Amino acid sequence: MEAIIRPDPDGAALLVARIVARELRANPSLVLGLATGRTMEAVYRLLVQMHREEDLDFSLCRTFNLDEYVGLAPGDTRSYRYYMDRRLFSQVNLDSRNTHLPNGQAADLEAECREYEAKIQRCGGIDLQLLGLGQAGHIGFNEPLSALRSRTRVKALSPLTIAQNADFFCGAENVPRRAITMGVGTILECRRCLLLATGPSKAAVIAQAVEGPITSMISATALQLHARCTVVLDEAAASRLQAAGYYRWIFDNEPEWEEFR
Ligand code: GLP
Repeated sequence: MEAIIRPDPDGAALLVARIVARELRANPSLVLGLATGRTMEAVYRLLVQMHREEDLDFSLCRTFNLDEYVGLAPGDTRSYRYYMDRRLFSQVNLDSRNTHLPNGQAADLEAECREYEAKIQRCGGIDLQLLGLGQAGHIGFNEPLSALRSRTRVKALSPLTIAQNADFFCGAENVPRRAITMGVGTILECRRCLLLATGPSKAAVIAQAVEGPITSMISATALQLHARCTVVLDEAAASRLQAAGYYRWIFDNEPEWEEFR
C-alpha cells in the first residue's frame, strides 16, 4: 500500500482524477470500478471537466460500481444508479450498455450477485477500482465482520452506516436495511485499487485502515494485502498517521510520482 497526502480535499480529488485519466488514456477499454459517496463527487466533476476540455474519451470504457441499495428503483433519486447517471454517465461519452451496477430490485438477489461477479469476469476483471471509505472503515458496503474473501452478496447495513446515510433519506428510519456489495475478495482481485478519503472525520479510521492490524471489523484494512493499492488523502484525513513524513517524502521524491507533482 502507498499513502499519498495532498494539502487539501481538492488536491486529493485532482490527483485521483488524474490517475484515472492516465489509466484510461493508456487503455481506452479500461474496466473501471466506481464508488459513490460525497467524497467521490469532486472526482466525477473533474472527470467530466477533463472529458469536455481535454477530450478524455470514455467511449470504450466499461464500468462496475461497488454497490447498490436493496429495494430502490434505478430512477429513485437516492439510488446509486441515479447518483452515477447524474454525476458521470450522462455527462461523458460512456455507452450506457457498458455501465454496470447491481440491481437492488432483482427478484432473486443471490442470482443477481452471482451474475454481477460473472459479468466482471466476462469483461476480464477490473483494472482500476475507485474506493471511498465509510466512517466504520468499510469499503463498498463491507460492514464489520465481512469475510476478507467475501464475494458480491447482500449485506445488512450497520447502525453507523445507516446514520451516515440518513440525510439522503430524510432520516435513519428510511434508509434501506440491506445493500448488494462487491465482496472484499472481489475488490482484492482488481488490478489496482485507488482509495480517496478526505476531511477530519476520516482521520481515525484512516489511521486504522492504513497502519493498523488487518481485521474483518474494518474491511479497508484488507487493502494492506493488495499488491497495488494507493490511498490518496488530504492533510486532515492523514493527521493521525504515524509515518506521514515518510509518505510525503515518497510523493515528493519518487520518480513514479513526478508527472503528478
Ligand atoms: C457509502 C458507500 C461507500 C462509500 C461511503 C463513503 O457507505 N457505500 O462506497 O465509500 O459511503 O461516503 P462519503 O464519501 O460520503 O464519506
